[in-house]
Amino acid sequence: MRLILSVFLSLATFAFSEEAPKLPVPLYETRAQHSRDGIGKFFMGREIAHVMGHQAAGWLERPEREQEERTDLAVKALDLKPGEAVADIGCGTGYYVSRMSRIVGEKGTIFGVEIQQEMLDLMLRKMRLMKIENVKPILGDVKDPKLPAESCDLILLVDVYHELDFPYEMTRAMIGALKKGGRLVLIEFRKEDPKVPIKELHKMSEEQVKKEMALHAELEWAATKTDLPQQHVIIFKKK
Ligand SMILES: C[S@@+](CC[C@H](N)C(=O)[O-])C[C@H]1O[C@@H](n2cnc3c(N)ncnc32)[C@H](O)[C@@H]1O
Repeated sequence: MRLILSVFLSLATFAFSEEAPKLPVPLYETRAQHSRDGIGKFFMGREIAHVMGHQAAGWLERPEREQEERTDLAVKALDLKPGEAVADIGCGTGYYVSRMSRIVGEKGTIFGVEIQQEMLDLMLRKMRLMKIENVKPILGDVKDPKLPAESCDLILLVDVYHELDFPYEMTRAMIGALKKGGRLVLIEFRKEDPKVPIKELHKMSEEQVKKEMALHAELEWAATKTDLPQQHVIIFKKK
């Protein structure tokens, strides 16, 4: 009887315990031979790209961007609601910040997070000109976006995740800043599509993104939207 009970208990423990995701050892690898577009540091088999400098900020505001990237559809895919709190990590000049601020409205908040003060200055100048008042700038660092704990309904990274110097640590911090049920959304140029005219290290495959997010037991994949011309919108939820 005691044997049956102990077998039953160990089966029940196995069934209900969630296996902790295994971290790669070492977490990051440095290789002498690497692409000139990357920093020579590798995470789960991919090389991390250089950060786009503020000197190239004009590219983010190019007039043809809306048509090329169908940024209107990208914003729609986020399914934002009035009153929501959103963080735009690597917000650059605020291209997405201004578009999202209109939807969340005066009761909502957009945290615009950057590691380059010059980008934050450009973003704030644009918000002043557009008379947008629901945006809070945050100067983060390479490991921490410095967001308040459990404050966000949605955290967005457009064309940013592939250039995070510390993707694992940043994702841990972003999970901490999400409310339960909150969404973490990565918009990345599709590596699967050779016709997308972007440097290889600045693209990401859906498979690679899912592999990296699987390190975080609190996240579950919710959807991938592929109706944009060049990018995919990959959505995770905090359990
Ligand atoms: C290619 S730009 C994209 C800007 C913006 N998301 C857009 O689509 O218009 C990438 C931005 O991410 C920022 N960035 C890189 N690593 C970051 C980090 N750890 N935290 C916050 N911003 C970061 C860079 O400074 C740069 O401005």
